[in-house]
Amino acid sequence: MRKLLAPSLLGLLFAGTAPLPGAPAEAAQANAPAPILTSPEARDVWTHAQPEVARVTHVSLDLDVDFASQTLAGTATLDVLAARDAKEIVLDVKDMAIASVTDGKGAALAYTLGEPDNDELGAALSVQLAGAKQVRITYRTSPKASALQWLPPEMTFGKTQPYLYSQGQAIHNRSWVPTQDSPGIRQTWDATLRVPGDLVAVMSAEKLSGDTGEALPDGRRAFRFRMDKPVPPYLIAFAVGDLKFKSLGPRSGVWTEAPMLQKAAYEFADVEKMIDAASALYGPYRWGRYDMLLLPPAFPYGGMENPMLTFLTPTIVTGDRSNTDVVAHELAHSWSGNLVTNATWSDSWLNEGFTTYFENRIMEALYGKERAAMYADLDWDTMMRDIAAMGDAMKPGMTAAPSRLHGNPGKGELDYTKGSNFLRMLESQLGRDTWDAYLTSYFDRHAFQPQTTAGFLADLRETMLMGKPDTELTLQLDRWAYAAGVPDNALHVKSETLAQVDELLTGFEAGGPVSAIDTKGWSTQQWLRFLNGLPRALSQERLRELDEGLTLSNSDNAYVQSAWFELAIVNRYEPALPAMAEFVGRIGRGLLVYPIYQRLMQQDGWGPDKARAIFATARPTYHPETAAGIARILGE
Ligand code: BES
Ligand code: ZN
Repeated sequence: MRKLLAPSLLGLLFAGTAPLPGAPAEAAQANAPAPILTSPEARDVWTHAQPEVARVTHVSLDLDVDFASQTLAGTATLDVLAARDAKEIVLDVKDMAIASVTDGKGAALAYTLGEPDNDELGAALSVQLAGAKQVRITYRTSPKASALQWLPPEMTFGKTQPYLYSQGQAIHNRSWVPTQDSPGIRQTWDATLRVPGDLVAVMSAEKLSGDTGEALPDGRRAFRFRMDKPVPPYLIAFAVGDLKFKSLGPRSGVWTEAPMLQKAAYEFADVEKMIDAASALYGPYRWGRYDMLLLPPAFPYGGMENPMLTFLTPTIVTGDRSNTDVVAHELAHSWSGNLVTNATWSDSWLNEGFTTYFENRIMEALYGKERAAMYADLDWDTMMRDIAAMGDAMKPGMTAAPSRLHGNPGKGELDYTKGSNFLRMLESQLGRDTWDAYLTSYFDRHAFQPQTTAGFLADLRETMLMGKPDTELTLQLDRWAYAAGVPDNALHVKSETLAQVDELLTGFEAGGPVSAIDTKGWSTQQWLRFLNGLPRALSQERLRELDEGLTLSNSDNAYVQSAWFELAIVNRYEPALPAMAEFVGRIGRGLLVYPIYQRLMQQDGWGPDKARAIFATARPTYHPETAAGIARILGE
């Protein structure tokens, strides 16, 4: 048994384990696997794993990437830490063909593969340990694997080579990595990927085989990677494509296809400064390099915080650097999310709300208060729209009710908006210096550990609020965390730049001409305030004026297009439809395409048929997760 020391504050570990006699406690701790939480609210209903019985501490992948069959095939070798009386280890697997299960030396281990609980959760793979410390699974993924999108050359920027990438969050990685797929069970990992000789593989880890990998006798290339810090498995990520790299600073650079490389380098030029600002705010950047991968437009998210290699949508490349808040956001996850991780997806505001707050602080540090205020003000608008739209019933506080019926834990906007406003309130009530010092120490004290809402509140109370009942009362912590709506101590940050946009809106609403609206040099944020601030009911003539006068349907900014199409749809403005259909067939980012389908579905007798027809054509271009999301919107 590996030696380990039970971390004092956290409930786990296994009875009867202790450091070997004479071993210095420090050394034992350094080698010890990251702790898990055993409090009731830390129980993850989206995993089959029983980590208190036996848990995976390291994953070693060895996989062949085959574009022809759209499968990954090979082995996953898992290091197992088991309680003394543990008989089996339970893993999460989804849509994969298991060929064999052995111990580390190749001796067969008995196993059972359960029935999938539902489409999202996958099945339990229970392996009889018979004393084994390692479990090796030989398997092949399904072409339907929900973490993977296989893109034909037409869907890439280069148009000549295929492309493949993974998206693990929240519970998709079990479709290509057979392990305990829970954010509360951290694992170190390494991987070897063998890919076609003219393609490059990248991963969310340290590269061990250079930028070009190692040539194999059969013409393919092998790429090797290692992540020596324990991470939740949703952060294991890779991409394979015709990728090129451009350095942006001593610790940072961008990977993308050749046609996007210069544009990406221009857009992300400030990334090194962002890393400095983030470290100055909340403690050292602990992951070594911070590279970015700019993906094809099908990528379903704005960004994904895969460690050492943030994944980004190309829709943020608007040529004016106005959407680099997304980069600041994914970078901030290097602390909130990747260092201190929500123990379950019910607590995802601990990842997203903290990160949205932190992101805003990075933007303020680089570009000043007004630019940061613009993002915060828009976030406030979004929060109010979401609260109004969802009603109290759905998701009252920031913590979602854990239920397997919810299937895949989704992306709740309140995690971002209410979560960040909660922390902004704490900053203003406690004072920026005090709050920043607390947050720095919080990240440090909980580094590489899972966290729950209750755990965060307890930490805040123990370190900051002992003997201060008055402060405790003003903060309204429980109301923020668990009750509906926004407490009255919330702080609505207002932007002057956006207030000027509001004046233009007033002019337009009073019947003023579109020619009076000067949009020259507008950032995405000004556009969004304008488009979302327009009256929802407009005449066809006014819509035509806007569309033609401001080039909306054919804007080269995807945020502008999406917000415009929403307005066009609710007014049944048909001249926008061809551009809209082209848009949703090319862009796969949920934030920009879901609202279009939602609005169409709300236009009884006009929209639903259009939505279904457009989806039928566009479906093959979507990531499986996005396709499933749209299918839900369409009631399919
Ligand atoms: N971790 C999220 C993406 C995510 C959330 C993936 C939920 C799967 C499930 C990422 O950090 C994120 O929040 N991305 C945002 C951008 C951000 C600036 C708000 C996005 O995708 O829009
Ligand atoms: Zn995020």
